[in-house]
Amino acid sequence: MMRIDVISAVPDSLISPLNTSILKRARERNKVEIVVHNLRDYAHDKHKLIDDKPFGGGPGMLLKPEPFFECIEILLNERKYDHVIFPTPGGKIYDQKMANDFSLVENLLIIAGHYKGVDDRVRQKFATDEISIGGYVLTGGEIVALAIIDSIVRLIPGVLNDSESALNDSLMDGEIIEAPYYTRPAEYKGMEVPEILLSGHEKKIKEWKEEQSKILTEHWKKINSME
Ligand code: ADE
Repeated sequence: MMRIDVISAVPDSLISPLNTSILKRARERNKVEIVVHNLRDYAHDKHKLIDDKPFGGGPGMLLKPEPFFECIEILLNERKYDHVIFPTPGGKIYDQKMANDFSLVENLLIIAGHYKGVDDRVRQKFATDEISIGGYVLTGGEIVALAIIDSIVRLIPGVLNDSESALNDSLMDGEIIEAPYYTRPAEYKGMEVPEILLSGHEKKIKEWKEEQSKILTEHWKKINSME
């Protein structure tokens, strides 16, 4: 079974998403083991301090190196990690290809920073993959960790049902956006479902979906300046 460890200073923010819907089901079916570690459990002074002022000045607080080092060294003594993922706006932009690659390994460790960041020695010592989920700044790595975990876990065989299959997803091969979907009612507030989808004509429906997919993919490339 694949195992994913996450270290966080605000572990509560991870608990509910990891215990909902498909991630919950995947864990219950033993398709993945996800273990959340509370950084504060690795602080040993009287006040369990995990942050401190940055050298050289500047606003905000930094997460101290020692609790990360202690926690990560314990984990590294227990198993080898295929990737140690460090979320940072300066990292490589995450995409489906990276999700596909990560979904094939045994052990992942995600180091989620918070506040203004993490003492850089943690990144230097342990990070194998620095990852950004887009050109904007979040308050911490937790949402990044969840995006990465969600995108990986749904690819593990047996996690999705046939009807949820990931095989013909948008972006599965990196450059296809799927045709839109509709369900009942066929007409709602004057808005009609494309007639072809109600026709029962399988071949024509398939052609329509391919055509729509082509149009949406071109549009997607254009609005993202990809060609
Ligand atoms: N930390 C803060 N913002 C981030 C982003 N966009 N991607 C990865 N890590 C982050």
